[in-house]
Amino acid sequence: MPIEFHPESGVFFLHSAHMTYAMRIHEFGCLCHLYWGPPLRSQPLDFLLPIRPRAFSPNPAGAPQDFSLNDFPLEYPVYGNSDFRSPALEVRDPSEGSRIVDLRYLSHSIEPGKPGLQGLPATFAANEDSTTLRVRLRDQKLGLTVELLYTVFQDTPALARSATLIHEGSTPLEIKKALSSSVDFSSACENFDFVHLSGNWIRERNISVSPLHPGTQSVESRRGTSSHQHNPFYALAESGASEEHGRVFGFNLVYSGNFIAAVELDEDGRPRAQIGLNPFDFTWRLSPGESFQTPEAILVFSNEGLGGMSRSFHRLYRDHLCRSTFQHRHRPVLLNSWEGTYFDFDAEKLVRIAADAKELGIELFVLDDGWFGHRNAADCSLGDWTVDRRKIPKGLTDLARRINGEGVEFGLWFEPEMVSPDSDLYRQHPDWCLHVAGRPRTEGRAQLILDYSRHEVWEEIYRQIAVLLREAPITYVKWDMNRHLTELSSAALPPERQQEVAHRYVLGLYAMLDRFLEEFPHVLIEGCSGGGGRYDPGMLYYMPQIWTSDNSDAIARLKIQFGTSLAYPLSTMAAHVSIVPNHQVNRTTPFRTRGTVALTGAFGYELDLQLLTEEEKLEVRRQISFFHEMEPLLHSGDLYRLLSPFTGNAAAWMVVSRDRKEALVSYVNILAEPNPATRFLPLRGLDPELHYSINNETHRPGDGLMQIGLPLPFIMDDFTSSQWLLRAL
Ligand code: DGJ
Repeated sequence: MPIEFHPESGVFFLHSAHMTYAMRIHEFGCLCHLYWGPPLRSQPLDFLLPIRPRAFSPNPAGAPQDFSLNDFPLEYPVYGNSDFRSPALEVRDPSEGSRIVDLRYLSHSIEPGKPGLQGLPATFAANEDSTTLRVRLRDQKLGLTVELLYTVFQDTPALARSATLIHEGSTPLEIKKALSSSVDFSSACENFDFVHLSGNWIRERNISVSPLHPGTQSVESRRGTSSHQHNPFYALAESGASEEHGRVFGFNLVYSGNFIAAVELDEDGRPRAQIGLNPFDFTWRLSPGESFQTPEAILVFSNEGLGGMSRSFHRLYRDHLCRSTFQHRHRPVLLNSWEGTYFDFDAEKLVRIAADAKELGIELFVLDDGWFGHRNAADCSLGDWTVDRRKIPKGLTDLARRINGEGVEFGLWFEPEMVSPDSDLYRQHPDWCLHVAGRPRTEGRAQLILDYSRHEVWEEIYRQIAVLLREAPITYVKWDMNRHLTELSSAALPPERQQEVAHRYVLGLYAMLDRFLEEFPHVLIEGCSGGGGRYDPGMLYYMPQIWTSDNSDAIARLKIQFGTSLAYPLSTMAAHVSIVPNHQVNRTTPFRTRGTVALTGAFGYELDLQLLTEEEKLEVRRQISFFHEMEPLLHSGDLYRLLSPFTGNAAAWMVVSRDRKEALVSYVNILAEPNPATRFLPLRGLDPELHYSINNETHRPGDGLMQIGLPLPFIMDDFTSSQWLLRAL
């Protein structure tokens, strides 16, 4: 049974593949956490709940002196009656001014399958692949029921958690904080590391590791989107855990707005690990009869280090999160116009580019920014999604057909959430952007943010985009978002609801994306936010690939892609070969290395093809045919990170097919070493019993390849790369 309940002890055992999570309904009424880790048979675990009198651990009313919530591992902690740690839920009752919540067990049910979440992206799974437990907790005085959802998956050591607040009381409540998940580890874990992904524009998702220490460590976004700066992901890793060994607990939030991801080490060294909506600048008014749904949190356990954790996230997201019809389909090799032309193009030039692209084997041409309004620079026309006839005189449909006529598909760039002050839309509706009446409006990249908390606003943008997509043969959309949210207020909401705007904005965005996927399931959406500023599971639900970073330099990308892969599958990372010297960092790298790095993800080019030498064109053809051959492996196999660019002078990774009969190993040397030593690269994930051919040149047994490794080339140049294709004989 994936979920067992033992009525005599009140204990739940939740079993996903290779993982057990256990909880107990305590006599006092609270839901206690017991265990999370490797598979465990059902057994008494009461000794994990500390019953002993302790100074400065008060006893809630009706409880004995040896019972304090402050010492108990809890599943959804609240504030006000003896637990001093960070709560998962804070509710204010404005009729009394009280902030006390007292949640007691009410009921539970177990059902097959995985329910969706109202208005929010979430994992999905067939009834035979998943089981869900609903536990209802209730505060009688407030009339508030909290329904906690726990889904276990047959094929992945993962748990999906969320909470629904259902208000059955008689006066409105204010939700100040409602997290998706809170886990109290039962025993001290001072020797764990806090691993997270942080960075900035063009250096997203660098891996940061710091030892847990008493108090709170956290990452968060207050920017209205998940952000380049921090990612709604973290892991607690046993210190000394490596890529392949050690216990790791991973947390990820299926959400694209403000989040908090925090771990508090209490006075006994026990972590409380939380993730959810950021309570910063958030208050949600809940009227009687209404409910509030938190986003979903994904919890992954790995006994095989960070690598094991990543492989589980990847499988879960590929099979149970990315909803696009493209998830398991071929992704066309594309040429994006941005770095090749920027704003300088016309229809004739674009058709010529498409013809050149076809020559080289490229399948899709994407027209990036600059095709609409009167936009020749990033300073106008957002919100006016009509073609610029000066550049494209016969319109988009004609252009798309001509490009199709050259033998390539056509894709188009939009930035649907923005409005330029210099636009017809803004002139007609100056109140449609986020703003505070009577205050100046902060601009970023000369643009303002449309108020997606308002239905009519995103409906109008949807209408404009849909007109184009219904008419022109457009099979791909790049959905960009180039600034963060300020003056988070809506002209359509009353003063007491203004702190709902950040969340309502994200809900509006999701509603529009839902509509989009329903009407245009044949259109592949690529997410983008100044590169990877909104790279999160919420977006991946709608779009199976995201522009990983505006940094297209192969060497900088090593860290960005390596970090991103901690949680997100390779198939989701859009990666392009671009020109040198690189436009972001001015570095010159070999064409082949740029291909090696980009080939790992959703593959494409972003350069002026006219600048390529004949030799480079040959290499483009080779790369594209190699991508076609490798795509099924790269986009469905298991990733093993072998050498980290964060700790050494090289990066290496390999992808192994699920049957372990095929693998592609990629290696990039960063700086040339004088008189390099003899080095081997031990491989992972192969079948030790099998024999593998290597690049069709030689062959070696799997155990030797893993125990000893591949000999690394003696490299005399900077930024060179090698790839080895292994096939079982
Ligand atoms: C930011 C994106 O990340 C780029 O790829 C490009 O689309 C520009 N916006 C266009 O303005």
